[in-house]
Amino acid sequence: MKAAVITRFGRIGDVVEVRDVPDPVVGPCDVLIEVRAAGVNPVDYLIVKGFMASAELTQMRVLGNEVAGVVTAAGDEVTRFSVGQEVFARVDPRVGGAFAEYAAVHEELVAAKPASLSFEEAAGLPLVALTAWQALTEQAEVGAGTRVLVHGGAGGVGSTAVQIGKHLGAEVIATATGGGVELVRALGADQVIDYQSEKFEELLSGVDVVLDTIGGDTQERSFRVLRPGGTLVSIVPIADAEAKTTQFGVQARSFFMRPNGTQLARLAALVESGELRLIVETVFPLDRTTDALLKVERGGARGKTVITVRA
Ligand SMILES: NC(=O)c1ccc[n+]([C@@H]2O[C@H](COP(=O)([O-])OP(=O)(O)OC[C@H]3O[C@@H](n4cnc5c(N)ncnc54)[C@H](OP(=O)(O)O)[C@@H]3O)[C@@H](O)[C@H]2O)c1
Repeated sequence: MKAAVITRFGRIGDVVEVRDVPDPVVGPCDVLIEVRAAGVNPVDYLIVKGFMASAELTQMRVLGNEVAGVVTAAGDEVTRFSVGQEVFARVDPRVGGAFAEYAAVHEELVAAKPASLSFEEAAGLPLVALTAWQALTEQAEVGAGTRVLVHGGAGGVGSTAVQIGKHLGAEVIATATGGGVELVRALGADQVIDYQSEKFEELLSGVDVVLDTIGGDTQERSFRVLRPGGTLVSIVPIADAEAKTTQFGVQARSFFMRPNGTQLARLAALVESGELRLIVETVFPLDRTTDALLKVERGGARGKTVITVRA
């Protein structure tokens, strides 16, 4: 099959190749997905550059962390999915494998694709929506009336977090800039702060939960807007977490999302009820995986970048 792979870490343009590789091995609990589309995320270029690896790359790695397609085979122990079903998944992060014509994925990571979504839209949803869901419902307890600040509201994680926050009954404030401001408002944010022309820490106080998708100076300033006892949930590392929590009397948690087919099915239901949508910004063919990765690396996302594998 054709796939986008690396055999060593390095710059995107130097090490990413699209070429023929062996089909994936289907384990007893795996479904084999004929990939129609795959979402692109910052983690993909971090993997290419070796930032997510503790050791050298010892064998070829097929890139890609989330997928939408059609089940074409199932292992002997698979009970929840059958051949012909349209599905989507955040794949096992240790394995990757989404930027390819076929991906073998453990059935526990898979959910039925919402019928109302195209394959491109469905492919861009799992990683960011699961991250936002786990941040707001597991790392923090966002519910009716919770005041939440979502940074990077126009990006992949932020745009889903705004919508999930509204679904949970929260008051959602988001940061964005340029065209992202209107986009985030259209997604239902109660207040949007242009982070280039305004200082959010001068406009806000008494925030219950901050979802930090940015880090650095944005994270540092976020501690000041939390109410005592509030929570900063970060999906990037937290600098000086212990000192900050003591200084501001708040909690601070950084976490790495995990794939979960059951939660993904729940998010699919939100899509079907019209409460969650995925904004696709740009679509590239598999042959142009390098361009897709470079686009995501450049930043300024207004939704997701997606790779189409098969029309
Ligand atoms: N821990 C985990 O499990 C996990 C999961 C998913 C993602 N992540 C990480 O989380 C980060 C965000 O991921 P993503 O997929 O949402 O990325 P993304 O789609 O690139 O979105 C980032 C957004 O932040 C905006 N932005 C940049 N600087 C900003 C600032 N100072 N204030 C407010 N917004 C700003 C960007 O647009 P503009 O520059 O135009 O404003 C963009 O819209 C990445 O570092 C990724 O690796 C971690």
